[in-house]
Order: sequence, then C-alpha cells, then structure tokens
Amino acid sequence: MEPEVITLLSKRELEKMRRAGRLAAELLNHLEPMVKPGVSTLELNDEAEHWTQAHGAKSAPLGYGPTDYPFPKSICTSVNEVVCHGIPNPRQILKAGDIINIDVTPIIDGYHGDTSRTFYVGKPSPVAKKLVEVTAECLRRGIAAVKPGGRIGDIGAAIQAYAEGQGFSVVRDFVGHGVHRIFHAAPQIPHYGQPGKGKKLRKGMVFTIEPMINEGSWEVELQSDGWTALTADRKLSAQFEHTVAVTEDGVEILTLAPVTVTV
Ligand code: MF3
Ligand code: CO
Ligand code: CO
Repeated sequence: MEPEVITLLSKRELEKMRRAGRLAAELLNHLEPMVKPGVSTLELNDEAEHWTQAHGAKSAPLGYGPTDYPFPKSICTSVNEVVCHGIPNPRQILKAGDIINIDVTPIIDGYHGDTSRTFYVGKPSPVAKKLVEVTAECLRRGIAAVKPGGRIGDIGAAIQAYAEGQGFSVVRDFVGHGVHRIFHAAPQIPHYGQPGKGKKLRKGMVFTIEPMINEGSWEVELQSDGWTALTADRKLSAQFEHTVAVTEDGVEILTLAPVTVTV
C-alpha cells in the first residue's frame, strides 16, 4: 500500500540517494555491452546480481511484491511487446532487431536507485528506432517539467503531448513513484495528465519518472505469472526511467553515472 505522506529528504538522505542512483546507472552501463544477439535474459540477470553483490548492494526486485508470487529475479528485462516487469529467463535469447528494457534497482545503505533504459539488439527497425528515441525524449521532457512550485500533472502533460504528437500512446496502468528507503512510495507520477493539476512539487521530493510508450494502443495485458505486462495489441513498447530530486530551483537527476575517459 502506498503511504499517503510524501517524504521530503534531508541533505544527508539526498547524499545517500545520489550514491544509490549512481550505482544503478553504473550497473546499466556495465550490462549494456552484454546486450547482443545470442545472450539470454537470465545471463543479464545473473551478471547484474553478481555485480550488485560485489558492490555491497542488494537487488530490490528479488523477492519483491506479494508473498504468494514475489518477483523471482534481480532485474526486469522487458523485450519488444513486453511493457514492463519482464522476468529474466534462460530460454529467452535476444536476437537482432529486438529492443530490450533493462530496469535495475540496487539498494545501498538502505536507499534505492531506480533506473531503466531501452537498448537495441543489433540494428533496430525504423519504427523501433523512432519509438525508442521518442520514449527517451519523453523522459527528458518529463524531467524538464519538474521544479519546486510546479505540479505533478505538469510532468505527465509534457510526456503525453509529445508521445501522442509523434503518433504513439502512453501506458496508464503503471506510473512513476516516490523512492527512497521505500521502493514504491508516494506520490504516484502518471505519465499523462494536465498541466497545473495534481500535488505541488516541493524541494526534497524524490521520485521516478518512467514513461512506457506504446507503438499502438496504450492498453496492457498481464500474463498469468502475475508480473509480465504486455501490449494488448502485441505491438512494441519502450521505457526509460530516472530517479530525480526536486531542488531549490529545478531538478537533479540522481541516476546518472560519472563519465569516464581513458587517456
Ligand atoms: N523497477 C521497477 C520500477 O521502476 C519495479 C520493478 S518491481 C519488480 O518501479 F518486482 F518487478 F521488480
Ligand atoms: Co525501475
Ligand atoms: Co520505478
């Protein structure tokens, strides 16, 4: 159940969120070169789990959720028509032309860093490329709408206007969320909506923005495993996610990795 209160993080707590966010981004960077035809989604999972443990962190997804069907793996791997919460599987082998969202959430020192990106496996089809580029731009525009004194509805409105303007649709059934010591906390952040509506954004709020954008209609279907969500029309879906903090005068992206160069 989502707690009603929206936690405002202190400077010290924000510093811990920065550490968790950076680790999450570095984990995606670590996995990215493995995304090639022939790799299984379970191999991606197992490398993520190993890397996470080696960095003194825990994988939040592992065992998360209802006690009768907890999420069974350490990351979510959502391929092509899978919208989100795809379960890594040894029989699922990536092939050229696929798109795959990898969603990671390491916990370090009690704090969660939640981020995902959609990667191409080999060369994408023109529509897959457009969908992935539009979805990345949706996340950028959603983030750009965040500032203290603004409203939660500003974020979804910016995303929806751009996605629909490009001929795609916005998933309704899954939303961004507050994230700190708690994986899924208040507030909910819809990726559709109206500007000026919803709760006011305040300095110290930390939440995810994680638009899922569909090639066809926005309706999703849940598979019988209780987790895997796929597009009802079986067309493509893409997603990007960052964890962000509302600052004094704008927004800080917490799930970025420092750029490293070799000289
Ligand atoms: N990381 C996902 C999110 O962005 C949640 C995954 S829950 C899991 O909120 F149990 F499926 F891992
Ligand atoms: Co996530
Ligand atoms: Co999330």
